[in-house]
Amino acid sequence: MILVTGGTGLVGAHLLLRLTDDNRKVRAIFRNEKNISKTKNLFEIMNKENLFSKIEWFKADLNDVPELEEAFIDITEVYHCAAMVTFTGSENEKMQKVNIEGTANMVNLSLAFDVEKFCHISSIATLDETIIGTNLIDETSNWNPNGIHSDYAISKFGGETEVWRAAQEGLNVVIVNPGVIFGIGFPDQGSGEIITKMKSGFPFYTDGKTGVVSANDVVSCMIGLMDNNIFNQRFILVSENISYKDLFEKICNLLNKKTNFLEAKKWMLAIAWRMDWLLTAIIPNKKRSLSRDLATASFTKDLYKNDLIKKTLNFEFETSDKFLKDIILKQI
Ligand SMILES: NC(=O)c1ccc[n+]([C@@H]2O[C@H](COP(=O)([O-])OP(=O)(O)OC[C@H]3O[C@@H](n4cnc5c(N)ncnc54)[C@H](OP(=O)(O)O)[C@@H]3O)[C@@H](O)[C@H]2O)c1
Repeated sequence: MILVTGGTGLVGAHLLLRLTDDNRKVRAIFRNEKNISKTKNLFEIMNKENLFSKIEWFKADLNDVPELEEAFIDITEVYHCAAMVTFTGSENEKMQKVNIEGTANMVNLSLAFDVEKFCHISSIATLDETIIGTNLIDETSNWNPNGIHSDYAISKFGGETEVWRAAQEGLNVVIVNPGVIFGIGFPDQGSGEIITKMKSGFPFYTDGKTGVVSANDVVSCMIGLMDNNIFNQRFILVSENISYKDLFEKICNLLNKKTNFLEAKKWMLAIAWRMDWLLTAIIPNKKRSLSRDLATASFTKDLYKNDLIKKTLNFEFETSDKFLKDIILKQI
């Protein structure tokens, strides 16, 4: 039986859809019953409601070892998609605990229960040393300990380190490092929020670039790597590198929205994140919407190479034109 963490999130829900469609036995952990409805919603949008009841849901938190231990009974394979993704600063301590300690709990239990294989989702945020003389990043790019990193990147790097440690202790692991993941069904979180913001007329872009990929492709690669027993390697999952301006224009064109954005300069964002910090400090219950980490990340121009996964699985990625169109058509 396969254990999936993060099944109430974007990637985990798409993975559950694919695994149940392939008739594989799956157990998915959840914390809050309410969030299971997000996964159910995806199955409904995709006209696969009949598959939803095939999932065995199990209540467990990554940081509660006795609870989590129960989830491992009869498990042979693990896909670890759960993580806390936040750039607000205020929840950093919790994020480090979930993404590092929670991952350590997952690999330790996998070793204790003799799990045969373990797939971990990391992020391109953990790769930052460019190939000398270029701004290219591939799987040999290491973490630069002297670099400037977001709290999220630090937590994902710590999580990856736990997975490599477990590999040394005998667990068969494979790690994927996706760029920004776009997928159907989660309009209020992660990349879904970008599309939602574009719909309501978000007017700015920054002069930066990022790697993007579809949730479909992330899931295909994870399953492909596990099924082919490819271990002790990591794989960048990026369909293409794209500037924020081009990305926002593509989304707006698909939404039939105006595309006359204004460029937000570095100094403007430097003021904006400080204003956001101040307002969050004085307005009760206001959540951070722009942090220093997010502002800094929005100006990076590193380019991610995807040759290794293409060669290993003989894989072709969906283009952003295709997956953005699919998402927008299903979500309007
Ligand atoms: N989305 C992206 O653009 C992107 C890009 C690169 C890498 N990644 C990585 O891909 C993975 C999946 O991301 P996603 O976008 O699917 O995230 P997401 O939509 O935010 O979902 C996160 C999932 O993790 C679960 N979770 C969080 N804390 C937990 C805890 N303490 N115990 C158990 N479950 C917990 C959440 O459960 P609840 O419903 O209970 O909160 C939810 O199911 C993450 O590792 C992320 O770092 C994402």
